[in-house]
Amino acid sequence: MSIDYTEKIPNNVDLAGDRKLRRALESWRPNFLNWWKTMGPALPCADVYLRTAVDVGKEGWAHFDHVPMEEYRWGVFLAERNHDRRIAFGEQKGEPVWQRVPGEYRAELQRLIVVQGDTEPASVEQQRRLGETAPSLYDLRNLFQVNVEEGRHLWAMVYLLHAYFGRNGREEAEALLRRNSGDLDSPRILGAFNEETPDWLSFYMFTYFTDRDGKYQLGTLEESAFDPLSRTCEFMLKEEAHHMFVGTTGIDRVVARTAQLIREHDTDQVAAYGGIPLDVIQRYLNFHYSVSLDLFGSEQSTNAARYFTAGLKGRWQEERRRDDHVLMEDSAMVDVVRDGAVTTHEVPALLALNHDLRSEYISDCQSGLKR
Ligand SMILES: [Fe+2]
Ligand SMILES: [Fe+2]
Repeated sequence: MSIDYTEKIPNNVDLAGDRKLRRALESWRPNFLNWWKTMGPALPCADVYLRTAVDVGKEGWAHFDHVPMEEYRWGVFLAERNHDRRIAFGEQKGEPVWQRVPGEYRAELQRLIVVQGDTEPASVEQQRRLGETAPSLYDLRNLFQVNVEEGRHLWAMVYLLHAYFGRNGREEAEALLRRNSGDLDSPRILGAFNEETPDWLSFYMFTYFTDRDGKYQLGTLEESAFDPLSRTCEFMLKEEAHHMFVGTTGIDRVVARTAQLIREHDTDQVAAYGGIPLDVIQRYLNFHYSVSLDLFGSEQSTNAARYFTAGLKGRWQEERRRDDHVLMEDSAMVDVVRDGAVTTHEVPALLALNHDLRSEYISDCQSGLKR
Protein backbone atom coordinates (compact mmCIF):
# COMPACT_ATOMS: atom_id res chain seq x y z
CA MET A 1 0.00 0.00 0.00
CA SER A 2 1.91 3.05 -1.12
CA ILE A 3 2.01 6.14 1.01
CA ASP A 4 0.48 9.42 -0.14
CA TYR A 5 3.19 12.08 0.16
CA THR A 6 1.16 14.76 -1.62
CA GLU A 7 -0.82 15.23 1.59
CA LYS A 8 0.36 17.55 4.35
CA ILE A 9 0.37 14.49 6.58
CA PRO A 10 1.71 11.54 4.57
CA ASN A 11 -0.47 8.53 5.22
CA ASN A 12 -1.86 5.26 3.98
CA VAL A 13 -5.11 5.49 5.92
CA ASP A 14 -7.00 7.63 3.38
CA LEU A 15 -6.97 10.83 5.40
CA ALA A 16 -8.11 12.65 2.25
CA GLY A 17 -11.39 10.77 2.51
CA ASP A 18 -12.05 11.78 6.12
CA ARG A 19 -12.01 15.55 6.34
CA LYS A 20 -12.91 15.77 10.00
CA LEU A 21 -10.08 13.49 11.05
CA ARG A 22 -7.66 15.19 8.69
CA ARG A 23 -8.50 18.59 10.15
CA ALA A 24 -8.11 17.29 13.68
CA LEU A 25 -4.67 15.87 12.93
CA GLU A 26 -3.66 18.98 11.01
CA SER A 27 -4.47 21.07 14.04
CA TRP A 28 -2.39 18.79 16.28
CA ARG A 29 0.55 19.00 13.84
CA PRO A 30 1.84 22.52 14.74
CA ASN A 31 1.89 21.50 18.41
CA PHE A 32 3.93 18.46 17.49
CA LEU A 33 6.36 20.51 15.39
CA ASN A 34 6.70 23.00 18.21
CA TRP A 35 7.40 20.17 20.65
CA TRP A 36 10.01 18.75 18.23
CA LYS A 37 11.68 22.14 18.02
CA THR A 38 11.83 22.69 21.78
CA MET A 39 12.20 19.12 23.07
CA GLY A 40 13.67 17.25 20.08
CA PRO A 41 17.35 17.04 19.02
CA ALA A 42 19.23 20.11 20.27
CA LEU A 43 21.88 19.89 17.55
CA PRO A 44 20.98 21.34 14.13
CA CYS A 45 20.68 18.43 11.78
CA ALA A 46 20.71 19.65 8.18
CA ASP A 47 22.42 17.35 5.68
CA VAL A 48 21.65 14.22 7.62
CA TYR A 49 19.92 11.70 5.40
CA LEU A 50 17.29 9.50 6.98
CA ARG A 51 15.23 6.59 5.81
CA THR A 52 11.50 7.07 5.59
CA ALA A 53 8.82 4.55 4.71
CA VAL A 54 7.36 4.86 1.24
CA ASP A 55 5.40 1.65 0.96
CA VAL A 56 3.90 -0.98 3.24
CA GLY A 57 3.15 -4.43 1.83
CA LYS A 58 0.75 -7.14 2.83
CA GLU A 59 3.23 -8.91 5.07
CA GLY A 60 3.82 -5.66 6.94
CA TRP A 61 7.00 -5.23 4.93
CA ALA A 62 8.12 -1.64 4.46
CA HIS A 63 10.19 -0.09 1.69
CA PHE A 64 12.31 2.83 2.68
CA ASP A 65 13.81 5.77 0.85
CA HIS A 66 16.24 8.46 2.02
CA VAL A 67 15.45 12.14 2.63
CA PRO A 68 17.38 15.01 4.23
CA MET A 69 16.32 15.30 7.87
CA GLU A 70 14.87 18.77 7.40
CA GLU A 71 12.46 17.33 4.86
CA TYR A 72 11.49 14.41 7.02
CA ARG A 73 7.72 14.10 7.01
CA TRP A 74 6.01 12.42 9.92
CA GLY A 75 2.88 10.60 8.99
CA VAL A 76 0.45 7.81 9.68
CA PHE A 77 1.38 4.38 8.36
CA LEU A 78 -0.43 1.17 9.16
CA ALA A 79 0.38 -2.32 7.95
CA GLU A 80 -2.09 -3.48 5.33
CA ARG A 81 -5.40 -4.90 6.51
CA ASN A 82 -5.97 -8.64 6.47
CA HIS A 83 -9.70 -9.03 5.85
CA ASP A 84 -9.75 -12.60 7.22
CA ARG A 85 -8.06 -11.78 10.49
CA ARG A 86 -9.74 -13.26 13.57
CA ILE A 87 -9.25 -12.84 17.30
CA ALA A 88 -6.50 -15.26 18.30
CA PHE A 89 -7.09 -15.54 22.06
CA GLY A 90 -9.36 -14.82 25.01
CA GLU A 91 -13.07 -15.39 25.39
CA GLN A 92 -13.90 -14.08 21.90
CA LYS A 93 -11.30 -16.24 20.19
CA GLY A 94 -12.24 -17.09 16.59
CA GLU A 95 -14.55 -14.10 16.07
CA PRO A 96 -13.66 -11.39 13.51
CA VAL A 97 -11.35 -8.67 14.82
CA TRP A 98 -12.83 -5.25 15.62
CA GLN A 99 -12.60 -2.28 13.27
CA ARG A 100 -14.20 -0.01 15.87
CA VAL A 101 -13.67 0.22 19.61
CA PRO A 102 -16.28 -1.79 21.55
CA GLY A 103 -17.89 0.50 24.15
CA GLU A 104 -17.12 -1.83 27.07
CA TYR A 105 -13.36 -1.74 26.38
CA ARG A 106 -13.06 1.89 25.44
CA ALA A 107 -11.41 3.14 28.61
CA GLU A 108 -8.94 0.27 28.82
CA LEU A 109 -7.91 0.42 25.17
CA GLN A 110 -7.43 4.15 25.37
CA ARG A 111 -5.26 3.73 28.45
CA LEU A 112 -3.08 1.11 26.73
CA ILE A 113 -2.59 3.41 23.74
CA VAL A 114 -1.81 6.45 25.91
CA VAL A 115 0.77 4.55 27.97
CA GLN A 116 2.45 3.22 24.83
CA GLY A 117 2.23 6.62 23.13
CA ASP A 118 3.77 8.38 26.12
CA THR A 119 7.02 6.41 25.83
CA GLU A 120 7.71 7.50 22.23
CA PRO A 121 8.26 11.26 22.69
CA ALA A 122 9.77 10.57 26.13
CA SER A 123 12.81 8.85 24.62
CA VAL A 124 13.33 11.73 22.17
CA GLU A 125 13.37 14.10 25.16
CA GLN A 126 15.80 11.88 27.03
CA GLN A 127 18.17 11.81 24.05
CA ARG A 128 17.84 15.48 23.24
CA ARG A 129 21.43 16.56 23.86
CA LEU A 130 23.28 13.44 22.75
CA GLY A 131 24.00 14.83 19.29
CA GLU A 132 26.48 17.26 20.84
CA THR A 133 28.75 14.42 21.97
CA ALA A 134 28.25 11.91 19.16
CA PRO A 135 31.30 9.64 18.81
CA SER A 136 31.00 9.66 15.01
CA LEU A 137 28.80 10.79 12.14
CA TYR A 138 27.61 7.22 11.82
CA ASP A 139 26.34 7.32 15.40
CA LEU A 140 24.80 10.75 14.92
CA ARG A 141 22.82 9.53 11.94
CA ASN A 142 21.60 6.51 13.91
CA LEU A 143 20.54 8.75 16.79
CA PHE A 144 18.50 11.02 14.54
CA GLN A 145 17.01 8.02 12.75
CA VAL A 146 15.84 6.60 16.07
CA ASN A 147 14.52 10.03 17.13
CA VAL A 148 12.43 10.71 14.02
CA GLU A 149 10.98 7.22 14.16
CA GLU A 150 9.99 7.58 17.82
CA GLY A 151 8.35 10.84 16.74
CA ARG A 152 6.46 8.89 14.10
CA HIS A 153 5.39 6.28 16.65
CA LEU A 154 3.87 9.13 18.60
CA TRP A 155 1.99 10.10 15.43
CA ALA A 156 0.73 6.54 15.12
CA MET A 157 -0.72 6.54 18.63
CA VAL A 158 -2.15 10.03 18.19
CA TYR A 159 -3.84 8.88 14.98
CA LEU A 160 -5.57 6.08 16.90
CA LEU A 161 -6.64 8.47 19.66
CA HIS A 162 -8.05 10.98 17.18
CA ALA A 163 -9.67 8.45 14.88
CA TYR A 164 -11.30 6.15 17.43
CA PHE A 165 -11.63 7.83 20.83
CA GLY A 166 -13.46 11.12 20.17
CA ARG A 167 -12.96 14.15 22.36
CA ASN A 168 -11.30 12.18 25.16
CA GLY A 169 -8.80 10.86 22.65
CA ARG A 170 -8.02 14.34 21.35
CA GLU A 171 -7.41 15.58 24.89
CA GLU A 172 -5.07 12.67 25.55
CA ALA A 173 -3.21 13.50 22.32
CA GLU A 174 -2.58 17.02 23.61
CA ALA A 175 -1.47 15.68 26.98
CA LEU A 176 1.16 13.50 25.26
CA LEU A 177 2.97 16.71 24.34
CA ARG A 178 2.45 18.34 27.74
CA ARG A 179 4.10 15.68 29.88
CA ASN A 180 7.89 15.71 29.65
CA SER A 181 10.60 13.28 30.61
CA GLY A 182 11.89 14.01 34.11
CA ASP A 183 9.52 16.96 34.62
CA LEU A 184 8.76 17.31 38.33
CA ASP A 185 5.20 18.51 37.80
CA SER A 186 4.13 16.45 34.80
CA PRO A 187 6.55 13.58 34.21
CA ARG A 188 6.18 10.80 31.67
CA ILE A 189 3.99 7.93 32.82
CA LEU A 190 6.60 5.16 33.21
CA GLY A 191 9.69 5.31 35.42
CA ALA A 192 12.34 4.31 32.88
CA PHE A 193 11.26 7.19 30.64
CA ASN A 194 11.99 9.79 33.29
CA GLU A 195 15.61 8.70 33.73
CA GLU A 196 18.33 10.68 32.02
CA THR A 197 20.25 9.46 29.00
CA PRO A 198 23.29 11.66 29.59
CA ASP A 199 25.91 9.84 27.52
CA TRP A 200 26.33 7.41 24.65
CA LEU A 201 26.84 4.29 26.70
CA SER A 202 23.45 5.08 28.29
CA PHE A 203 22.00 5.51 24.82
CA TYR A 204 23.30 2.12 23.66
CA MET A 205 22.01 0.50 26.84
CA PHE A 206 18.66 2.27 26.40
CA THR A 207 18.28 1.09 22.81
CA TYR A 208 19.41 -2.41 23.82
CA PHE A 209 17.17 -2.87 26.87
CA THR A 210 14.38 -0.27 26.83
CA ASP A 211 13.67 -0.40 23.09
CA ARG A 212 13.61 -4.17 23.47
CA ASP A 213 10.97 -3.77 26.14
CA GLY A 214 9.13 -1.69 23.52
CA LYS A 215 9.44 -4.56 21.06
CA TYR A 216 7.73 -6.94 23.49
CA GLN A 217 5.00 -4.48 24.48
CA LEU A 218 4.27 -3.77 20.81
CA GLY A 219 4.27 -7.52 20.16
CA THR A 220 1.43 -7.99 22.66
CA LEU A 221 -0.53 -5.05 21.21
CA GLU A 222 0.02 -6.40 17.69
CA GLU A 223 -2.05 -9.40 18.80
CA SER A 224 -4.92 -7.10 19.83
CA ALA A 225 -8.44 -7.74 18.61
CA PHE A 226 -8.66 -4.01 17.91
CA ASP A 227 -7.35 -4.28 14.36
CA PRO A 228 -6.16 -0.68 13.76
CA LEU A 229 -3.98 -0.96 16.87
CA SER A 230 -2.60 -4.29 15.71
CA ARG A 231 -1.75 -2.92 12.26
CA THR A 232 -0.09 0.16 13.74
CA CYS A 233 2.12 -1.95 15.98
CA GLU A 234 3.03 -4.33 13.19
CA PHE A 235 4.48 -1.42 11.28
CA MET A 236 6.25 0.12 14.27
CA LEU A 237 8.02 -3.15 14.98
CA LYS A 238 9.86 -2.88 11.65
CA GLU A 239 11.45 0.35 12.83
CA GLU A 240 12.15 -0.88 16.36
CA ALA A 241 14.39 -3.63 14.98
CA HIS A 242 16.83 -0.95 13.84
CA HIS A 243 16.79 0.74 17.27
CA MET A 244 17.89 -2.49 18.91
CA PHE A 245 20.55 -2.94 16.25
CA VAL A 246 21.93 0.46 17.28
CA GLY A 247 22.04 -0.69 20.91
CA THR A 248 23.55 -4.11 20.24
CA THR A 249 26.28 -2.91 17.91
CA GLY A 250 26.96 0.12 20.12
CA ILE A 251 27.58 -2.04 23.21
CA ASP A 252 29.59 -4.47 21.07
CA ARG A 253 31.93 -1.71 19.96
CA VAL A 254 32.42 -0.33 23.49
CA VAL A 255 33.16 -3.78 24.93
CA ALA A 256 35.45 -4.72 22.04
CA ARG A 257 37.49 -1.55 22.51
CA THR A 258 37.76 -2.16 26.26
CA ALA A 259 38.95 -5.74 25.67
CA GLN A 260 41.46 -4.52 23.12
CA LEU A 261 42.90 -1.96 25.57
CA ILE A 262 43.02 -4.51 28.41
CA ARG A 263 45.11 -6.80 26.21
CA GLU A 264 47.30 -4.01 24.85
CA HIS A 265 48.16 -2.54 28.25
CA ASP A 266 47.78 -5.64 30.37
CA THR A 267 45.48 -3.91 32.85
CA ASP A 268 41.75 -3.57 33.35
CA GLN A 269 42.24 0.08 34.35
CA VAL A 270 41.60 1.25 30.80
CA ALA A 271 40.10 4.69 31.55
CA ALA A 272 43.53 6.31 31.23
CA TYR A 273 43.75 4.95 27.66
CA GLY A 274 40.31 6.24 26.65
CA GLY A 275 38.41 2.99 27.27
CA ILE A 276 35.43 2.37 29.52
CA PRO A 277 36.36 -0.08 32.32
CA LEU A 278 34.36 -3.31 32.43
CA ASP A 279 32.97 -2.61 35.91
CA VAL A 280 31.54 0.70 34.65
CA ILE A 281 29.93 -1.07 31.68
CA GLN A 282 28.51 -3.64 34.11
CA ARG A 283 27.02 -0.89 36.26
CA TYR A 284 25.33 0.73 33.25
CA LEU A 285 24.00 -2.65 32.22
CA ASN A 286 22.61 -3.39 35.70
CA PHE A 287 20.84 -0.05 35.81
CA HIS A 288 19.22 -0.16 32.37
CA TYR A 289 18.30 -3.82 32.67
CA SER A 290 16.60 -3.20 36.03
CA VAL A 291 14.59 -0.13 35.02
CA SER A 292 13.55 -1.90 31.81
CA LEU A 293 12.44 -5.02 33.73
CA ASP A 294 10.28 -2.80 35.92
CA LEU A 295 8.32 -1.80 32.81
CA PHE A 296 6.74 -5.25 32.70
CA GLY A 297 4.69 -4.61 35.84
CA SER A 298 4.08 -6.98 38.73
CA GLU A 299 4.67 -10.71 38.26
CA GLN A 300 1.05 -11.49 39.03
CA SER A 301 -1.48 -9.13 37.51
CA THR A 302 -5.25 -9.18 37.35
CA ASN A 303 -5.13 -6.30 34.82
CA ALA A 304 -3.04 -8.39 32.42
CA ALA A 305 -5.51 -11.26 32.88
CA ARG A 306 -8.44 -8.98 32.04
CA TYR A 307 -6.73 -7.52 28.98
CA PHE A 308 -6.01 -11.01 27.70
CA THR A 309 -9.47 -12.46 28.31
CA ALA A 310 -11.08 -9.43 26.67
CA GLY A 311 -8.80 -9.73 23.61
CA LEU A 312 -7.09 -6.36 24.11
CA LYS A 313 -3.54 -7.60 24.58
CA GLY A 314 -2.20 -11.05 23.72
CA ARG A 315 0.96 -12.93 24.49
CA TRP A 316 4.19 -12.57 22.56
CA GLN A 317 3.72 -14.60 19.35
CA GLU A 318 0.33 -15.93 20.38
CA GLU A 319 0.09 -18.21 17.34
CA ARG A 320 3.25 -20.06 18.38
CA ARG A 321 1.71 -21.17 21.70
CA ARG A 322 0.53 -24.76 21.92
CA ASP A 323 -2.45 -24.30 24.22
CA ASP A 324 -6.11 -23.29 23.92
CA HIS A 325 -5.28 -19.51 23.89
CA VAL A 326 -7.97 -18.99 26.54
CA LEU A 327 -5.99 -20.26 29.56
CA MET A 328 -8.97 -20.65 31.93
CA GLU A 329 -7.78 -24.09 33.05
CA ASP A 330 -3.99 -23.57 32.91
CA SER A 331 -1.45 -22.77 35.55
CA ALA A 332 2.06 -21.33 35.47
CA MET A 333 5.05 -21.04 37.78
CA VAL A 334 6.10 -17.58 38.95
CA ASP A 335 8.91 -16.42 41.22
CA VAL A 336 7.95 -15.22 44.68
CA VAL A 337 10.02 -14.02 47.60
CA ARG A 338 9.26 -16.11 50.67
CA ASP A 339 11.13 -15.80 53.98
CA GLY A 340 13.81 -13.78 52.26
CA ALA A 341 14.44 -16.32 49.49
CA VAL A 342 13.19 -16.55 45.91
CA THR A 343 11.10 -19.64 45.26
CA THR A 344 8.63 -20.62 42.56
CA HIS A 345 4.94 -20.78 43.12
CA GLU A 346 2.07 -22.15 41.01
CA VAL A 347 -0.65 -19.66 40.01
CA PRO A 348 -3.43 -19.53 37.37
CA ALA A 349 -1.77 -18.90 33.96
CA LEU A 350 -3.96 -15.83 33.40
CA LEU A 351 -2.42 -14.14 36.41
CA ALA A 352 1.12 -14.88 35.20
CA LEU A 353 1.02 -13.11 31.83
CA ASN A 354 3.42 -10.35 32.85
CA HIS A 355 5.77 -13.03 34.07
CA ASP A 356 5.43 -14.80 30.72
CA LEU A 357 6.26 -11.66 28.74
CA ARG A 358 9.16 -10.80 31.01
CA SER A 359 10.61 -14.31 30.52
CA GLU A 360 10.48 -13.89 26.74
CA TYR A 361 12.23 -10.56 27.11
CA ILE A 362 14.93 -11.90 29.40
CA SER A 363 15.87 -14.72 27.05
CA ASP A 364 15.97 -12.26 24.13
CA CYS A 365 18.31 -9.98 26.13
CA GLN A 366 20.56 -12.92 26.96
CA SER A 367 20.80 -14.26 23.44
CA GLY A 368 21.80 -10.80 22.22
CA LEU A 369 24.49 -10.42 24.89
CA LYS A 370 25.97 -13.87 24.20
CA ARG A 371 26.66 -13.16 20.57
FE1 LIG B 1 8.98 3.49 19.37
FE1 LIG C 1 12.44 2.53 19.56
